[in-house]
Amino acid sequence: MIKKSEELKIAIKAAEEAGKIIRNHFNKKISKRLKSGTDYVTNADIECEKKIISIIKKKFPEHNFIGEESGNHNTKSNFAWHIDPIDGTTNFVYGHYELAVSIALEKDNEIIAGVVYNPIINEMFYAEKNKGAYLNNKKIKVRNEKKVRLATVSVSAGRRNLLAKRLPFVFAVEKEIHNIRNFGSAALHLCYAACGRIDAVLEPLINSWDVAAGILIAEEAGAKVTNFEGGKWLPMKGDVFAANKNLHKKILRIIKKCQ
Ligand code: 2AM
Ligand code: CA
Repeated sequence: MIKKSEELKIAIKAAEEAGKIIRNHFNKKISKRLKSGTDYVTNADIECEKKIISIIKKKFPEHNFIGEESGNHNTKSNFAWHIDPIDGTTNFVYGHYELAVSIALEKDNEIIAGVVYNPIINEMFYAEKNKGAYLNNKKIKVRNEKKVRLATVSVSAGRRNLLAKRLPFVFAVEKEIHNIRNFGSAALHLCYAACGRIDAVLEPLINSWDVAAGILIAEEAGAKVTNFEGGKWLPMKGDVFAANKNLHKKILRIIKKCQ
Protein backbone atom coordinates (compact mmCIF):
# COMPACT_ATOMS: atom_id res chain seq x y z
CA MET A 1 0.00 0.00 0.00
CA ILE A 2 1.23 3.54 -0.76
CA LYS A 3 1.53 6.37 1.71
CA LYS A 4 -1.56 8.34 0.69
CA SER A 5 -1.44 12.12 0.26
CA GLU A 6 -3.91 14.29 2.19
CA GLU A 7 -5.74 14.91 -1.12
CA LEU A 8 -6.18 11.18 -1.79
CA LYS A 9 -7.27 10.51 1.78
CA ILE A 10 -9.98 13.17 1.58
CA ALA A 11 -11.14 11.90 -1.83
CA ILE A 12 -11.49 8.38 -0.42
CA LYS A 13 -13.39 9.68 2.61
CA ALA A 14 -15.74 11.70 0.38
CA ALA A 15 -16.33 8.67 -1.87
CA GLU A 16 -17.14 6.49 1.14
CA GLU A 17 -19.60 9.04 2.51
CA ALA A 18 -21.29 9.35 -0.91
CA GLY A 19 -21.33 5.55 -1.05
CA LYS A 20 -23.42 5.43 2.13
CA ILE A 21 -26.00 7.70 0.50
CA ILE A 22 -26.05 5.54 -2.64
CA ARG A 23 -26.55 2.34 -0.62
CA ASN A 24 -29.44 3.96 1.27
CA HIS A 25 -31.22 4.72 -2.01
CA PHE A 26 -30.23 1.61 -3.97
CA ASN A 27 -33.08 -0.66 -5.01
CA LYS A 28 -35.66 1.58 -3.36
CA LYS A 29 -38.12 3.84 -5.10
CA ILE A 30 -35.82 6.37 -6.75
CA SER A 31 -36.98 9.87 -7.50
CA LYS A 32 -35.57 10.64 -10.95
CA ARG A 33 -36.00 13.08 -13.79
CA LEU A 34 -34.53 13.46 -17.24
CA LYS A 35 -32.02 16.25 -17.75
CA SER A 36 -30.95 17.20 -21.30
CA GLY A 37 -33.44 14.81 -22.93
CA THR A 38 -31.77 11.43 -22.33
CA ASP A 39 -29.73 11.53 -19.10
CA TYR A 40 -31.26 10.65 -15.75
CA VAL A 41 -30.52 12.60 -12.61
CA THR A 42 -31.78 11.39 -9.23
CA ASN A 43 -32.01 12.89 -5.76
CA ALA A 44 -29.13 10.61 -4.80
CA ASP A 45 -26.86 12.18 -7.48
CA ILE A 46 -27.54 15.64 -6.09
CA GLU A 47 -27.25 14.62 -2.44
CA CYS A 48 -23.95 12.79 -3.10
CA GLU A 49 -22.38 15.65 -5.02
CA LYS A 50 -23.23 18.13 -2.25
CA LYS A 51 -21.72 15.77 0.34
CA ILE A 52 -18.52 15.20 -1.67
CA ILE A 53 -17.97 18.91 -2.33
CA SER A 54 -18.65 19.87 1.29
CA ILE A 55 -16.13 17.30 2.59
CA ILE A 56 -13.38 18.33 0.16
CA LYS A 57 -14.10 22.06 0.48
CA LYS A 58 -13.61 21.93 4.24
CA LYS A 59 -10.03 20.79 3.67
CA PHE A 60 -9.27 22.62 0.40
CA PRO A 61 -11.55 25.70 0.29
CA GLU A 62 -9.53 27.43 -2.42
CA HIS A 63 -9.72 24.61 -5.01
CA ASN A 64 -11.97 24.54 -8.11
CA PHE A 65 -14.83 22.06 -8.38
CA ILE A 66 -16.19 20.64 -11.64
CA GLY A 67 -19.22 18.56 -10.72
CA GLU A 68 -21.61 16.81 -13.09
CA GLU A 69 -24.68 18.08 -11.24
CA SER A 70 -23.55 21.48 -10.02
CA GLY A 71 -21.30 22.75 -12.81
CA ASN A 72 -18.02 24.60 -12.54
CA HIS A 73 -17.22 26.47 -9.31
CA ASN A 74 -14.34 28.59 -10.48
CA THR A 75 -11.63 30.01 -8.28
CA LYS A 76 -8.11 31.09 -9.23
CA SER A 77 -6.58 27.86 -7.94
CA ASN A 78 -4.64 25.61 -10.33
CA PHE A 79 -6.23 22.59 -8.63
CA ALA A 80 -9.61 21.30 -9.87
CA TRP A 81 -11.69 18.41 -8.56
CA HIS A 82 -13.68 16.53 -11.24
CA ILE A 83 -16.62 14.89 -9.52
CA ASP A 84 -19.21 12.43 -10.75
CA PRO A 85 -21.39 11.55 -7.75
CA ILE A 86 -22.85 8.53 -9.56
CA ASP A 87 -21.26 7.28 -12.74
CA GLY A 88 -23.71 4.77 -14.14
CA THR A 89 -26.89 6.56 -13.13
CA THR A 90 -28.99 4.47 -15.52
CA ASN A 91 -27.66 1.29 -13.86
CA PHE A 92 -28.49 2.85 -10.49
CA VAL A 93 -32.07 3.59 -11.57
CA TYR A 94 -32.54 0.01 -12.80
CA GLY A 95 -30.86 -1.62 -9.80
CA HIS A 96 -27.73 -2.86 -11.60
CA TYR A 97 -24.51 -3.04 -9.57
CA GLU A 98 -22.22 -1.34 -12.12
CA LEU A 99 -22.03 2.17 -10.69
CA ALA A 100 -19.40 4.25 -8.97
CA VAL A 101 -18.51 7.50 -7.31
CA SER A 102 -15.70 9.09 -9.32
CA ILE A 103 -13.44 11.81 -7.90
CA ALA A 104 -10.28 13.12 -9.55
CA LEU A 105 -7.88 15.92 -8.72
CA GLU A 106 -6.35 17.87 -11.61
CA LYS A 107 -3.35 20.15 -11.29
CA ASP A 108 -2.42 22.19 -14.40
CA ASN A 109 -4.07 19.82 -16.92
CA GLU A 110 -2.63 16.72 -15.25
CA ILE A 111 -4.71 14.30 -13.15
CA ILE A 112 -2.67 13.70 -9.99
CA ALA A 113 -5.09 11.63 -7.88
CA GLY A 114 -8.18 9.57 -8.63
CA VAL A 115 -10.73 7.49 -6.75
CA VAL A 116 -13.47 5.29 -8.22
CA TYR A 117 -15.67 3.60 -5.62
CA ASN A 118 -18.42 1.06 -6.18
CA PRO A 119 -20.34 1.16 -2.88
CA ILE A 120 -22.64 -1.72 -3.79
CA ILE A 121 -19.87 -4.33 -3.89
CA ASN A 122 -17.41 -2.26 -1.86
CA GLU A 123 -14.63 -1.91 -4.43
CA MET A 124 -12.35 1.08 -3.93
CA PHE A 125 -10.01 1.79 -6.84
CA TYR A 126 -7.47 4.57 -6.39
CA ALA A 127 -4.22 5.93 -7.80
CA GLU A 128 -1.81 8.79 -7.46
CA LYS A 129 0.53 9.97 -10.18
CA ASN A 130 3.67 7.78 -10.30
CA LYS A 131 2.59 5.68 -7.31
CA GLY A 132 0.73 2.78 -8.96
CA ALA A 133 -2.94 1.80 -8.92
CA TYR A 134 -4.80 -0.07 -6.21
CA LEU A 135 -8.03 -1.96 -5.63
CA ASN A 136 -8.98 -2.24 -1.95
CA ASN A 137 -5.34 -1.45 -1.08
CA LYS A 138 -3.88 -4.17 -3.33
CA LYS A 139 -1.74 -3.18 -6.29
CA ILE A 140 -3.39 -3.84 -9.67
CA LYS A 141 -2.07 -4.29 -13.21
CA VAL A 142 -3.51 -4.46 -16.72
CA ARG A 143 -3.82 -7.82 -18.51
CA ASN A 144 -1.03 -8.42 -20.96
CA GLU A 145 -3.10 -9.88 -23.83
CA LYS A 146 -1.20 -9.21 -27.02
CA LYS A 147 -3.51 -10.71 -29.64
CA VAL A 148 -6.28 -8.48 -30.95
CA ARG A 149 -8.36 -11.53 -31.86
CA LEU A 150 -8.34 -12.65 -28.21
CA ALA A 151 -9.14 -9.23 -26.76
CA THR A 152 -12.41 -8.34 -25.04
CA VAL A 153 -13.10 -4.65 -25.45
CA SER A 154 -15.53 -2.48 -23.53
CA VAL A 155 -17.31 0.04 -25.74
CA SER A 156 -19.72 2.69 -24.56
CA ALA A 157 -22.06 3.20 -27.46
CA GLY A 158 -25.37 3.01 -25.68
CA ARG A 159 -26.31 6.64 -25.92
CA ARG A 160 -28.66 7.78 -28.63
CA ASN A 161 -26.46 10.48 -30.11
CA LEU A 162 -23.32 8.34 -30.08
CA LEU A 163 -24.50 5.03 -31.43
CA ALA A 164 -25.10 6.32 -34.93
CA LYS A 165 -21.84 8.29 -35.06
CA ARG A 166 -19.70 5.48 -33.70
CA LEU A 167 -21.22 2.40 -35.31
CA PRO A 168 -18.74 2.19 -38.20
CA PHE A 169 -15.79 2.07 -35.90
CA VAL A 170 -17.49 -0.24 -33.37
CA PHE A 171 -18.16 -2.65 -36.28
CA ALA A 172 -14.56 -2.37 -37.47
CA VAL A 173 -13.16 -3.19 -34.03
CA GLU A 174 -15.79 -5.86 -33.31
CA LYS A 175 -14.84 -7.77 -36.48
CA GLU A 176 -11.26 -8.24 -35.26
CA ILE A 177 -11.58 -8.92 -31.55
CA HIS A 178 -12.89 -11.72 -29.36
CA ASN A 179 -15.84 -9.96 -27.71
CA ILE A 180 -17.50 -6.67 -26.75
CA ARG A 181 -18.83 -5.45 -23.41
CA ASN A 182 -20.77 -2.39 -22.30
CA PHE A 183 -20.89 -1.87 -18.53
CA GLY A 184 -22.74 1.47 -18.46
CA SER A 185 -20.12 3.21 -16.33
CA ALA A 186 -17.17 4.92 -17.97
CA ALA A 187 -15.29 5.19 -14.67
CA LEU A 188 -15.68 1.50 -13.90
CA HIS A 189 -14.67 0.09 -17.26
CA LEU A 190 -11.40 2.04 -17.09
CA CYS A 191 -10.83 0.49 -13.65
CA TYR A 192 -11.69 -2.92 -15.08
CA ALA A 193 -8.98 -2.40 -17.69
CA ALA A 194 -6.66 -1.44 -14.82
CA CYS A 195 -7.26 -4.66 -12.88
CA GLY A 196 -7.40 -7.02 -15.86
CA ARG A 197 -11.14 -7.62 -16.14
CA ILE A 198 -11.18 -6.24 -19.68
CA ASP A 199 -8.44 -5.79 -22.30
CA ALA A 200 -9.31 -2.39 -23.74
CA VAL A 201 -11.75 0.48 -23.39
CA LEU A 202 -13.25 2.68 -26.09
CA GLU A 203 -15.22 5.58 -24.67
CA PRO A 204 -16.46 8.13 -27.22
CA LEU A 205 -17.21 11.76 -26.38
CA ILE A 206 -17.20 11.65 -22.64
CA ASN A 207 -17.11 14.32 -19.93
CA SER A 208 -14.06 14.73 -17.74
CA TRP A 209 -15.88 13.89 -14.49
CA ASP A 210 -16.79 10.44 -15.86
CA VAL A 211 -13.26 9.41 -16.77
CA ALA A 212 -10.60 11.62 -15.14
CA ALA A 213 -10.10 9.31 -12.13
CA GLY A 214 -10.41 6.09 -14.15
CA ILE A 215 -7.82 7.28 -16.67
CA LEU A 216 -5.18 7.86 -13.99
CA ILE A 217 -6.00 4.48 -12.40
CA ALA A 218 -5.67 2.73 -15.79
CA GLU A 219 -2.40 4.54 -16.58
CA GLU A 220 -0.92 3.78 -13.20
CA ALA A 221 -1.83 0.10 -13.74
CA GLY A 222 0.19 0.10 -16.97
CA ALA A 223 -2.36 1.09 -19.63
CA LYS A 224 -1.71 3.53 -22.41
CA VAL A 225 -4.53 6.05 -22.50
CA THR A 226 -5.09 8.46 -25.40
CA ASN A 227 -7.88 9.94 -27.48
CA PHE A 228 -9.03 8.09 -30.61
CA GLU A 229 -6.30 9.75 -32.69
CA GLY A 230 -3.61 8.43 -30.35
CA GLY A 231 -2.99 11.92 -28.88
CA LYS A 232 -2.97 13.02 -25.24
CA TRP A 233 -6.33 12.97 -23.46
CA LEU A 234 -6.98 16.32 -21.81
CA PRO A 235 -9.35 16.92 -18.91
CA MET A 236 -12.28 18.13 -21.00
CA LYS A 237 -14.86 16.56 -23.32
CA GLY A 238 -13.32 13.99 -25.66
CA ASP A 239 -12.77 10.37 -26.65
CA VAL A 240 -10.83 7.96 -24.47
CA PHE A 241 -9.01 4.85 -25.63
CA ALA A 242 -7.18 2.64 -23.10
CA ALA A 243 -5.35 -0.65 -23.49
CA ASN A 244 -2.05 -2.28 -22.63
CA LYS A 245 0.72 -0.77 -24.76
CA ASN A 246 0.89 -3.62 -27.23
CA LEU A 247 -2.87 -3.86 -27.87
CA HIS A 248 -3.17 -0.07 -27.92
CA LYS A 249 -0.90 0.13 -30.95
CA LYS A 250 -2.77 -2.62 -32.81
CA ILE A 251 -6.32 -1.46 -32.06
CA LEU A 252 -5.43 2.17 -32.82
CA ARG A 253 -4.58 1.08 -36.35
CA ILE A 254 -8.10 -0.36 -36.72
CA ILE A 255 -9.74 2.80 -35.35
CA LYS A 256 -7.66 5.06 -37.57
CA LYS A 257 -8.69 3.15 -40.68
CA CYS A 258 -12.32 4.15 -40.20
CA GLN A 259 -11.83 7.79 -39.20
P1 2AM B 1 -23.47 9.00 -16.04
O1 2AM B 1 -24.00 7.71 -15.53
O2 2AM B 1 -22.73 9.79 -15.02
O3 2AM B 1 -24.52 9.80 -16.77
C1 2AM B 1 -22.69 5.12 -19.93
O4 2AM B 1 -22.60 4.77 -21.24
C2 2AM B 1 -21.62 6.12 -19.56
O5 2AM B 1 -21.78 7.32 -20.33
C3 2AM B 1 -21.70 6.55 -18.13
O6 2AM B 1 -20.42 6.79 -17.67
C4 2AM B 1 -22.56 7.80 -18.19
O7 2AM B 1 -22.34 8.67 -17.12
C5 2AM B 1 -22.09 8.42 -19.46
N1 2AM B 1 -23.11 9.26 -20.13
C6 2AM B 1 -24.44 9.10 -20.10
N2 2AM B 1 -25.04 10.01 -20.89
C7 2AM B 1 -24.05 10.77 -21.43
C8 2AM B 1 -24.02 11.88 -22.35
N3 2AM B 1 -25.13 12.37 -22.86
N4 2AM B 1 -22.82 12.41 -22.69
C9 2AM B 1 -21.69 11.92 -22.17
N5 2AM B 1 -21.65 10.87 -21.31
C10 2AM B 1 -22.81 10.30 -20.95
CA1 CA C 1 -23.29 10.90 -13.15
